Amino acid sequence: MSVRKILKMGEPLLLQVAQPVPAEKIGSLEIQSLIQDLIETMHAANGAGLAAPQIGISQQIVVFGFEKNQRYPDEDPVPQTILINPIITPFDSTKEIGWEGCLSVPGLRAQVPRYSKIRYQGLNQDGQIIDRVVEGFHARVVQHECDHLIGKLYPMRVEDFSTFGFTEVLFPGLDPSDQDE
Ligand code: NI
Repeated sequence: MSVRKILKMGEPLLLQVAQPVPAEKIGSLEIQSLIQDLIETMHAANGAGLAAPQIGISQQIVVFGFEKNQRYPDEDPVPQTILINPIITPFDSTKEIGWEGCLSVPGLRAQVPRYSKIRYQGLNQDGQIIDRVVEGFHARVVQHECDHLIGKLYPMRVEDFSTFGFTEVLFPGLDPSDQDE
């Protein structure tokens, strides 16, 4: 168990499509310690979420969740979740714009369009099924993390580049280390 180095944009591995985890391997020491490393690394970085490719492992595992979010004090907490082999299905074509940052793109933020409401399915750390319909910031975090599993970083989703900037300039009062994904 350890805090791992987070890869930054420019690393080819961040652009790869990650491999699914065979269901029978979820209980293995390899996968269980990878999950622990993801959680520890996310917490050490004050992150809202983290995907396995961000620590150099091209497998379909993401972790996310937080009690409260300083950027979005009105948003509901997102439950601590370990999601393996996720599938996202948009509820409809409605999208909304919101701010995003990424631990692999440190110091920057931009407004990114995401589906407002989604269903997501996958397996948890015990191999049990997760099947949720969520909206708002929860839906945004899941879409951001699962994008890491198909080689997409949020700057590749930005439509209005006039919103792309440095966190310390865009949000002068904010702790720049807080709550990126
Ligand atoms: Ni990210």
